[in-house]
Amino acid sequence: MESLKGKFIVLAGATGGIGQSLARMLQTSGANLFLTGRDEAKLSALAGQLPIDASQAKATDLSVPEQVQGLRDAVFAVFPQVDILINVSGIGIIKPIAQLDEHDFMKTLQVNLFAPFLLIRAFLPAMKEANKGLILQVPGVLGKVPMAGSAAYSASKYGLVGMMQSIREELKRTEVRMTNLFLGGVDSPFWDNIDLRVQKDKMIRAEEAARAIWFLCQQPASGVISEMALQPFNHQAI
Ligand SMILES: NC(=O)c1ccc[n+]([C@@H]2O[C@H](COP(=O)([O-])OP(=O)(O)OC[C@H]3O[C@@H](n4cnc5c(N)ncnc54)[C@H](OP(=O)(O)O)[C@@H]3O)[C@@H](O)[C@H]2O)c1
Repeated sequence: MESLKGKFIVLAGATGGIGQSLARMLQTSGANLFLTGRDEAKLSALAGQLPIDASQAKATDLSVPEQVQGLRDAVFAVFPQVDILINVSGIGIIKPIAQLDEHDFMKTLQVNLFAPFLLIRAFLPAMKEANKGLILQVPGVLGKVPMAGSAAYSASKYGLVGMMQSIREELKRTEVRMTNLFLGGVDSPFWDNIDLRVQKDKMIRAEEAARAIWFLCQQPASGVISEMALQPFNHQAI
């Protein structure tokens, strides 16, 4: 395992269920964190609790190109490099196709696919120049095996997987690594606005999902875990 002490890590989605747990684990491991989330109040509360300096957190709507540029500038104002970019932001709109409107569809693509593109485009050039780094995304099991009602969500996550695989091909001659974590259901606020009867007590706990990411971040640079799946024991889909 490679120590996280002193690593420069950008964590997108830090205000989410998985992100908040992960921020604490990374902080405890001695990493230098830069946190981002959409909700400014939640982000500054988290930064205050950890604690990290206010200059190491910036609220950002990751689906807006200018805001992602601003995030990149804020990160490089305080970090000399980015060793690990983790993106645990995302939204879930799960509805039958008859109820899925244009706004739902485009919003899902904007947050789950366009935003990861913007993030990678912002931080990959510096990693390529340094010839090292790790980019970690969380497509989820629905990015491998769809379920009824996941048309927009699966489209966004399959797109994310395809994009990651294509960029990985581009990076073959570098030591920049790309990892996809396929998570099954995680008990987090992700499910709060989804009109489905789910058994949260059967889901993975957000801390356990975060621990899997924390583990993936510590893989020695001589190898890469290109993908990993973590699913609730009774809901194995892949
Ligand atoms: N929970 C699950 O069952 C599950 C399963 C598989 C995969 N995943 C994936 O895991 C990731 C995180 O899930 P979670 O369970 O932690 O969900 P969550 O608690 O709902 O957190 C979602 C995070 O995404 C951020 N976000 C949403 N829209 C954004 C935008 N436009 N710009 C910037 N940030 C935005 C939220 O920011 P604010 O809170 O600040 O608004 C929050 O930090 C998502 O990619 C999700 O698809 C989740």
